[in-house]
Amino acid sequence: MKKITIAIDGFSSTGKSTLAKQLAKKLHYIYVDTGAMYRAVTLFAMRAGFVEDGKIDKKPLIQSLEEIDLRFVFSTNLGFAEMFLNSENVEKEIRTMSVSRNVSQVSELAEVRKKLVAMQQTMGADKGIVMDGRDIGSVVFPDAELKIFMTASPEKRAVRRYKELLDRGEDVKYSDILENVQKRDYIDSHRAISPLVKAEGAIDFDNSDVSMDDQFQRIYEHARRIIQKEA
Ligand code: DC
Repeated sequence: MKKITIAIDGFSSTGKSTLAKQLAKKLHYIYVDTGAMYRAVTLFAMRAGFVEDGKIDKKPLIQSLEEIDLRFVFSTNLGFAEMFLNSENVEKEIRTMSVSRNVSQVSELAEVRKKLVAMQQTMGADKGIVMDGRDIGSVVFPDAELKIFMTASPEKRAVRRYKELLDRGEDVKYSDILENVQKRDYIDSHRAISPLVKAEGAIDFDNSDVSMDDQFQRIYEHARRIIQKEA
């Protein structure tokens, strides 16, 4: 059966990665979480002292980009690939609030985007991939056969993120998370390069009041129809 490319974009905490993982598993496709790549570069920048409280020292970060090796390593235990930064498993650390506070600012840099987009295009060159992010349908794979643009209210998304972080043992306040979600929405959709936009041909999906199972079933059926048509 012919393989397709599935591009999932949308605001933070809209459940993009849950949906992308489910689709990839069911279709036996590769799943790539591009947010993890931007988060890993941000962690690198934070550790090197190039970024703090959302303020970036751009020049040294850009000069250091060559030193950043990013890899996804599949974990059979977890059923998905974890992010490795220069051979270190950073999957947990990149999801912390301190990384979330700086990631949108790092993602605004053209040089960072150029490096990561090129990597993403190589990963998806043979199709059979589900990729989620902000610019997948618009920039990385504008010819993707299936593009989905996910939204949900900021409050619903902040509650989801709040529960996730509490489950991971982080000491967080709901109001800080809501503020972070809204701030990232703004920066991600107003930046000069590759802002978050609904890509041409993308299907809108607001999941504020839809269960994850329902959402998966609807989109999976849609993907199957496209795959059958392509065959
Ligand atoms: O999907 P996420 O919330 O883990 O993404 C973290 C940040 O990375 C997000 O606020 C913006 C940035 N990002 C991006 O600019 N382009 C992508 N394709 C993916 C993420």
